[in-house]
Amino acid sequence: MKQVISISLGASKDDYEFETEFLGRQFFVKRLGADGDMDRAAQMLLEWDRKADAIGIGNIKFPHAIASNFLTKKHDDKIKTLGKRIQTPVTTGASLRDVSFEWSLRYVDHKFGSYFNNAKVLFLSGMTSYKIARVMAEYTDNLTFADPVIENGISKLIHSIKGLERYAKGSHEILEWLPGKRLTSSVVPLKKWNNYILRKAMQKATIIVVPSYKFYEYLKDATLEELGGKTIITATAYDDRIEFLKERGVDVIIDTTPKILERVVAPNVIEALILAALEKKSDMVHADDLLEIISMQKMDPRVVYPSGREKRVNRFAFVIHPLSKEFLKKDKAVDFISSFTPPAFLDAVEKVIAYAPPWVYSKVTGIKSPTGAQAEGWLITVGGTPKQMLAHSPEFTYARLLQAARMARRMGAQIMGLGAFTKVVGDAGVTVAKKADIPITTGNSYSASGALWAGADAVRRMGLIQIESGKKIAAKTMVLGATGAIGSVCCRLLAKAFDEVIMAGRNTAKLLALQQSILEETPDVKIKITTKPDRFLEDMDVIVTATSGAGKKILDITKVKPGCVITDVARPLDLSPEDVAKRPDVLVIESGEIELPGNPEMKNIGLPHKVVYACLAETIVLALEGRFEIFTVGREIEWEKVREIYKLGLKHGMKLAAISGVNGVFSDADILKVRDLALKAGHKAGQPAVTGISAGGKA
Ligand SMILES: NC(=O)c1ccc[n+]([C@@H]2O[C@H](COP(=O)([O-])OP(=O)(O)OC[C@H]3O[C@@H](n4cnc5c(N)ncnc54)[C@H](OP(=O)(O)O)[C@@H]3O)[C@@H](O)[C@H]2O)c1
Repeated sequence: MKQVISISLGASKDDYEFETEFLGRQFFVKRLGADGDMDRAAQMLLEWDRKADAIGIGNIKFPHAIASNFLTKKHDDKIKTLGKRIQTPVTTGASLRDVSFEWSLRYVDHKFGSYFNNAKVLFLSGMTSYKIARVMAEYTDNLTFADPVIENGISKLIHSIKGLERYAKGSHEILEWLPGKRLTSSVVPLKKWNNYILRKAMQKATIIVVPSYKFYEYLKDATLEELGGKTIITATAYDDRIEFLKERGVDVIIDTTPKILERVVAPNVIEALILAALEKKSDMVHADDLLEIISMQKMDPRVVYPSGREKRVNRFAFVIHPLSKEFLKKDKAVDFISSFTPPAFLDAVEKVIAYAPPWVYSKVTGIKSPTGAQAEGWLITVGGTPKQMLAHSPEFTYARLLQAARMARRMGAQIMGLGAFTKVVGDAGVTVAKKADIPITTGNSYSASGALWAGADAVRRMGLIQIESGKKIAAKTMVLGATGAIGSVCCRLLAKAFDEVIMAGRNTAKLLALQQSILEETPDVKIKITTKPDRFLEDMDVIVTATSGAGKKILDITKVKPGCVITDVARPLDLSPEDVAKRPDVLVIESGEIELPGNPEMKNIGLPHKVVYACLAETIVLALEGRFEIFTVGREIEWEKVREIYKLGLKHGMKLAAISGVNGVFSDADILKVRDLALKAGHKAGQPAVTGISAGGKA
């Protein structure tokens, strides 16, 4: 049996010994702690020379992984020099440690699908964890290094690898701030300020990299507030460290040291086992050999969930805007002033706020998919109302959206959605998606899906149209704003489900082109185009209105057929409450809002608790699914995407919210009332026969 001895400068109370099999051989492994006594460690090293097959030296500070002519310290040099003189192969585990950093990061990112994508990572010591930082930089540039604060008491953080390298060389400008005293300094205000900076940096991070050496010293002041909900990357996460992190609410611990034995052992022990098994000295084993052994032996990094449940929280941002100047009054300060100033004041505020830089309106938390995936995010508001956005060139809105995208990225969002009018102006997200450093979606695929989902639900509950499974519905539908992004995909989908579709728009050439492409996809549909929708209104059973008319009169509801179901997707709505009140025999619903899974918390967005606009729901579905990609942009929405997002939504527990109209949610009784009035009015107007199915019943 081969013998591997680990001589540690750590406490002897943690000593252990055990037998194990590794690379097909039997081993006896023993740890000997020297309680920080260098001479004793040296003595032990000499004692075990030629007796052990390999010796590991543990609990010593590794040299900084980054070349440094500044801050270089003599770390336990005596014992390492001694290690070089003796016959038995000796290792500190440094090579394995470096190799396993890279391996474990790539492994975790691949296994869990873009795990580190735009993560906000704080390194408590970038100098020690330089190798991790270099690999991490391939996944995210949201890196922060606390070295100046912790090592030198400088109240500044570094935010790039280049900055860290300059700091290591002693050429970083922040070194001019060197107070000449370490963190242990008795300069209380400075120490307090530095603690504050560090605590804030920890709170903002999603991932914190904690060196294994002096682990507790780095985290001594950290509480639930700093560590709650975080992912910690560290090496050799012994049970006591896991317990410590668990008590402070950590969600995930990634232990970069491969777990090959039942017991967690330090890299020096594993590397010593490898040397003994291969019967080689440490300088004869290269990084490639180690990588091969790691992958062959399936020495995967450990991913520990202290709560016992797998946890993954992805992050999104979503851009919103005030729908009109009246919404600006919801701001308390504006409301207060506008209460005793002339209405012109609000006009001025509307113009000025359109120029304001984006700001975070609300944090969104608590979204939990039945798959276990979680999402959190930020609602970022740009100041422009639709009126203001239309009054400026598209570039005006693009500039604000790109500002919002930069903000979202800095905060750690992995995808950003564009709400309502922000994607109506210009090319519907194409330019913004091209220029932003974060994937963009307009959410229009799910908006179209939600509109039709809600429309279908309303039609079913009205029970005036016969629906036979597997057959096209013998009814007439119309889409207003048919050439728009949402309108056109609604036309494509309605063409697949209904006998006849009328596409209403303002531009005949666009309408003809759309008609042609739909007929290629769905040749058996009767499809007409019109620029004068009023002429057809009296025949329509279902209408979807999705224009960006921003409150202009779009359709004359007085001409609509009794019993018609109108889905108003537009924001601001195409039909005012006054219009809707004119026709109690017509069911007007406000598109399809989505109910989120879990227990979402956010500031009021004008919808019931848990309910959000479908375009925001699309952004959330993509975040939950880890699909950090440009999903829907431009006006050519593919119906396959509509179907895909609908299915992904179901997978992640999205539900169609209760359908509502201008007066709130429709109960079955409300719908029955509309239906009764429609039947009476329908007979009077001599409309085509309707099937008599009760409201809420199956059609
Ligand atoms: N409910 C939701 O969750 C949700 C989500 C996203 C968007 N929206 C809203 O849905 C609407 C459509 O969005 P979109 O992205 O599809 O916009 P879009 O691509 O710009 O399409 C707008 C359509 O409206 C037409 N239009 C514009 N002004 C009009 C007017 N005065 N009269 C008649 N037609 C007019 C346009 O016709 P031309 O082709 O002739 O210009 C175009 O076909 C917007 O109101 C938006 O705010 C709602």
